[in-house]
Amino acid sequence: MSKQGPWLDYDKVQEQIGGGGAFLMGQVPGGKLNPMTIGWGFGGTCWGRAVFLVLVRPSRYTHGLIEQSGEFAVSVPSGGMEKELSVCGTKSGRDADKIAELGLGTVPGTEVGVSTLDVPGVHYECRVVAKSRLTEMGLLSAEIADRHYPQGDLHTLYFGEVLAVHRR
Ligand SMILES: Cc1cc2nc3c(=O)[nH]c(=O)nc-3n(C[C@H](O)[C@H](O)[C@H](O)COP(=O)(O)O)c2cc1C
Repeated sequence: MSKQGPWLDYDKVQEQIGGGGAFLMGQVPGGKLNPMTIGWGFGGTCWGRAVFLVLVRPSRYTHGLIEQSGEFAVSVPSGGMEKELSVCGTKSGRDADKIAELGLGTVPGTEVGVSTLDVPGVHYECRVVAKSRLTEMGLLSAEIADRHYPQGDLHTLYFGEVLAVHRR
């Protein structure tokens, strides 16, 4: 996979997502912007286009936002946002306005109706072009099922075509 083009600093992006985490942004038109921490996320080329894959459990407020809008954004900070990542990974947008609570600045999307965070890092704007739900009937290994899905709530995989990428 090319590390050029939309995959600015892709190694650093992967390191940050797998280490501290990144922010998955969801928003419906006219609605409040909601950041959710993700620890998994992958970029690559699929169907002849740049695609960002995120995994979201149906219980998340973010899941409903992506289902409604068909769009999401990912803000991958350069680092130093441990408190924000912790809050966005433990509180739900159902009960809180995380952006207001944390006093975060935002930047409107140029290609989608979802804003990104005004923080140093790499920011992807994506439109869902495919989705798939993990199913117990599928090829999910018993070890992964036991460890990650004792209560069900199997992730939905959203494949977002990358329509814009910004480095700030
Ligand atoms: C480091 C970290 C990584 C996480 N990664 C994911 C993830 O990839 N997918 C997911 O569905 N939830 C993940 N979560 C849990 C959500 O961030 C958490 O449930 C959040 O409160 C959901 O927010 P929402 O209800 O506003 O969408 C993660 C949490 C943390 C702390």
